[in-house]
Amino acid sequence: MKRVAVLISGRGTNLQALIDAKQDAYKIVLVISNVPGAEGLEKARRAGIETLVIDHKRFGKDREAFEREIDTELGARAIDIVALAGFMRVLTPFFVRAWAGHLVNIHPSLLPKYPGTKTHERALEAGDREHGATVHLVVEEVDAGEILGQATLQIEPGDTPETLAQRLLPLEHDLYPRCLAKLARSLPESR
Ligand code: GRF
Repeated sequence: MKRVAVLISGRGTNLQALIDAKQDAYKIVLVISNVPGAEGLEKARRAGIETLVIDHKRFGKDREAFEREIDTELGARAIDIVALAGFMRVLTPFFVRAWAGHLVNIHPSLLPKYPGTKTHERALEAGDREHGATVHLVVEEVDAGEILGQATLQIEPGDTPETLAQRLLPLEHDLYPRCLAKLARSLPESR
């Protein structure tokens, strides 16, 4: 059973899906938010999971100091895998290297299409017929690591960024736990 920490910044619906999934490959033991009062923190507490707030603002421009504090807390709890779930900070090479192969993210596009933000808008503007979400390992280049799994939906006439986001979310909630469990099973027993 791999010990997972989930990093969030917001409402945490993917976190909830990771908590609810019935599987025996991983256990979420810690949730860290960089945003005090993030809705996802309450979801974690309700599930009896330890929560921490590490506010990036406390560190000013020193991104690495922010990440060192996160890394220290992860180390103290013998975390095996870090799962980003709506975590809105770009991580520096320090953190990405420290967790290489053990750091995973969900992104709302069919990578390698549309790394970065406004993915639904960009898929619509491009006239794409398909859109989706990707779970991938995190590397230094943003949204570029090895793909662990994807979920696809058809873009319908009349779709807007909002309808796409709404239809994609349940697919994300199905995809992320499956990919996290697959990663957990593929890793050696201890880091
Ligand atoms: C999701 O759309 C995810 O793909 C993206 O951020 C959003 C997080 O939503 N990375 P939630 O906080 O899990 O509800």
